[in-house]
Amino acid sequence: DGLSRFSNFPVVDFTLESERNAFPASIAKIRSRMGGEVPLFINGKEVRTDVHLDSYNPADPSEIIGSVCQAGVAEADMAIDAASEAYLSWRDVPPRERAEVLLKASQYLKDNIHDLSATQVLEVGKQWDQAHADIAEAIDFLEYYAREMIRLGNPRRMGRAPGEMSQLFYQGKGVAAVIAPWNFPLAISVGMVSAAIVSGCPVVYKPAGISSCVGYGLVEMWKAAGLPDGVFNYCPGKGSVIGDHIVDHPKVSVIAFTGSMEVGLRIQERAAKVHPGQQQCKKVIAEMGGKNGTIIDDDADLDEAVLGVLYAAFGFQGQKCSACSRVIVLDAIYDRFIERLTEAAKSVKLGPSENPSNYMGPVVDKAAQENVLRYLEIAESEGNVLVKHEVSADLKATGGCYVPLTIVDGITKEHRIAQEEVFGPILSVMRAKDMDEALDIANSTRFALTGAIYSRSPRNLERAFNEFRVGNLYLNKPSVGALVERHAFGGFKMSGVGSKSGGPDYLLQFLDPRLVCENT
Ligand code: NAD
Ligand code: ALA
Repeated sequence: DGLSRFSNFPVVDFTLESERNAFPASIAKIRSRMGGEVPLFINGKEVRTDVHLDSYNPADPSEIIGSVCQAGVAEADMAIDAASEAYLSWRDVPPRERAEVLLKASQYLKDNIHDLSATQVLEVGKQWDQAHADIAEAIDFLEYYAREMIRLGNPRRMGRAPGEMSQLFYQGKGVAAVIAPWNFPLAISVGMVSAAIVSGCPVVYKPAGISSCVGYGLVEMWKAAGLPDGVFNYCPGKGSVIGDHIVDHPKVSVIAFTGSMEVGLRIQERAAKVHPGQQQCKKVIAEMGGKNGTIIDDDADLDEAVLGVLYAAFGFQGQKCSACSRVIVLDAIYDRFIERLTEAAKSVKLGPSENPSNYMGPVVDKAAQENVLRYLEIAESEGNVLVKHEVSADLKATGGCYVPLTIVDGITKEHRIAQEEVFGPILSVMRAKDMDEALDIANSTRFALTGAIYSRSPRNLERAFNEFRVGNLYLNKPSVGALVERHAFGGFKMSGVGSKSGGPDYLLQFLDPRLVCENT
């Protein structure tokens, strides 16, 4: 196909002075420009509404990142109509040409990676390296799905029967509604949106309210890539106002959702109902939550295990669907591991993410802060607190959305804190007498997203390979940080329906296969 083989965009290299300087410069630049009105973008035109949602910096809620116009039902309908109209021509654009648009979009992200990272640092409180990784993942999705569509775009000859020519090929299903979360605000949005677009499905994109300014980056990106009008429509709005309406709409064929289990299940239920005028069965891709466990075997390398658990549990304040929220420790190593983990956790520095010496920043907004504090009370009542990093008076005075880093032990699988997704920096420690019990605990939630095990025993690693039943399992690695293709990502059970993002089956979910057989 004339393209190089797919490879992942490199991680940021802070040994380079140019990289170290680029972040503060971009943060200052974005800060000097932000705070204005952010319009909708429908059918290639900006659309303004009277209702706005102010998106703020969680480290300093008085700092407004953007005043985002909110779509109501009328604007959602406009966006769906525009996408529906665009479908009639976009579906027949050759796959290679659609892929070329993604490659141009990827170039735009590469050229603007520091500014885009800075927007995330300010809008959702990501650390520099994590924000950079989010843009890098978005680049990877564009590069990977472009190549995947070129692969799938060639009609496949079926059988070799004499006197007939039978070919199988694909067409986009129709309008795709993409409903995105805030925690990987560019990567997950670009992943779902670009998969739909390269498959021939025009998109109505609803970012999460909290990260709508990062979401606006997709408008700039597709403009720079030269995408035709109507193929991408930016339609921020409250889930409670336009969510059901978009899901129920008869002209929507695919719903690509990533977010909480509660909203994902609601979407699946509603999408099953056929509405007047609807011409197709809706396809729902729903990537949902996790309650991910990490097993520490009695012969684990504690240098690696402690750092791995710390990073997986508290990186980006524990606000990853892949985050480790339960660490399951074998009896024989329990005291040694806990001593090392608590020592390491006590050294974690809390403060604004724009200062790279802070390991942990604020959670994403005031509602998230309240939610984590509620779960903190539950954790304290169910277990014994090993670490609770109080938020200093100075930090409290900033009004930032900080919560204490917390580790509790004495947790068993019946506890709420062992079963419910918190989405914040609370880690439960669970004791297991042997590997049988550790695996039983690991598998004891309704989620099955990620998991990890630290062990030097080939037999126990093999047991985990076979018996630790999650979508993404990591042996002697943290449970976070999946890379496109190498760690194609996604879970099952209540963690989601649909095949893995960044994997070889993902685009098929946006495509209808057709077969044409000619009598020759
Ligand atoms: P959320 O479910 O609250 O919101 C996700 C999106 O759904 C937002 O855009 C929201 O506005 C929208 N929404 C809300 N109500 C709706 C409705 N009735 N109809 C349609 N859309 C509606 O999730 P969040 O807080 O943005 O993200 C955190 C959650 O996402 C966590 O549970 C996390 O585990 C999950 N997540 C999963 C993955 C994965 O790959 N499995 C990745 C990232 C995040
Ligand atoms: N892809 C993200 C991770 O693996 C969710 O951490």
